[in-house]
Amino acid sequence: MLIIELKFIDMNKIAVLTSGGDAPGMNACVRAVIRGAIYHGVDAYGIRYGYNGMIDGDIYKMKSYSVSNIIQRGGTILKSARSEMFKTKEGREKAFLQLQRRGIEGLIVIGGDGSFTGASIFYEEFSIPTIGVPGTIDNDLYGTDYTIGFDTAVNTALDAIDKIRDTANSHDRIFFIEVMGRHTGYIALECGIGGGAELIMVPETSTSIEDVVHTLEQNSRLSKTSSIVVIAEGDEEGGAIATAAKVKERMPDKDIRVTTLGHIQRGGAPTARDRILASRLGLAAIEGLLSGKSNMMVGVVNGKLVYTSFKEGINTNKSLNQELLRMVKIMSI
Ligand code: F6P
Repeated sequence: MLIIELKFIDMNKIAVLTSGGDAPGMNACVRAVIRGAIYHGVDAYGIRYGYNGMIDGDIYKMKSYSVSNIIQRGGTILKSARSEMFKTKEGREKAFLQLQRRGIEGLIVIGGDGSFTGASIFYEEFSIPTIGVPGTIDNDLYGTDYTIGFDTAVNTALDAIDKIRDTANSHDRIFFIEVMGRHTGYIALECGIGGGAELIMVPETSTSIEDVVHTLEQNSRLSKTSSIVVIAEGDEEGGAIATAAKVKERMPDKDIRVTTLGHIQRGGAPTARDRILASRLGLAAIEGLLSGKSNMMVGVVNGKLVYTSFKEGINTNKSLNQELLRMVKIMSI
């Protein structure tokens, strides 16, 4: 039997918030934080609307039943926001006073790199112990193999690709499907491979219009009558609409259509993987905080829980899986 020895520091009140773009599984994570805190005899508070709620004092005590029946729900019951005010010293001072007034001694921030940058500055200024939990569909955070919401987003996109492939095939069309990912191509890469895309365009690699035309022409020669190109919104060619227009100029005879999946990828019930990941990370966040860890993000690397300092996480790029990237070309011949 594996006994995990936890040595706890004296902390009586903690608060949790969700910040940045929401992600399926955030609720499961909030649930794990709250129940973990209560299990260890700590008072747990929820902060609504991310850092904005911290500044405005939109903070309420949560009980075990406050997180009943939410593990399966997308979105976040705590609401989320991208706070401009928290980027200012004045905003952070107000936020600190709100925590101080309530005697909140520790903070858990579920969000992405922007949220952790804010958390790190806040910690340096006010020394409130803080643990970050990676919650973003983008999967672009160093220090974890997967972020909460990524698996659900990939499966949502995959379902859409399967449906589009049916109609693409019936009409012998080329489809450019845009998925989320402003700076990274994780969603594009995984749903592209799972959906059998002929081409995947991501910000991390440069794919010229020449390359796209070349691949599509090659496909025609191989008697493929339809093609799917999955493109991340942040690709250097400018997303699906712009890329499709440029390709159409070069291939006027081809029947080309565009689908932008957009925020559909951010909603929906979290997959089993996301619920389990969110629950593990939420519990590890509260137990990490209670055992004295701070200014770090908790993640899962090779199946194991690991804590990475905000500084290292923010300053290190997570690179795309090269093996998967290589596979795209081979699988599409
Ligand atoms: O960071 C997650 C994300 O979904 C990105 O993939 C996307 O570019 C962005 O958020 C969209 O943000 P918003 O909902 O604020 O438009």
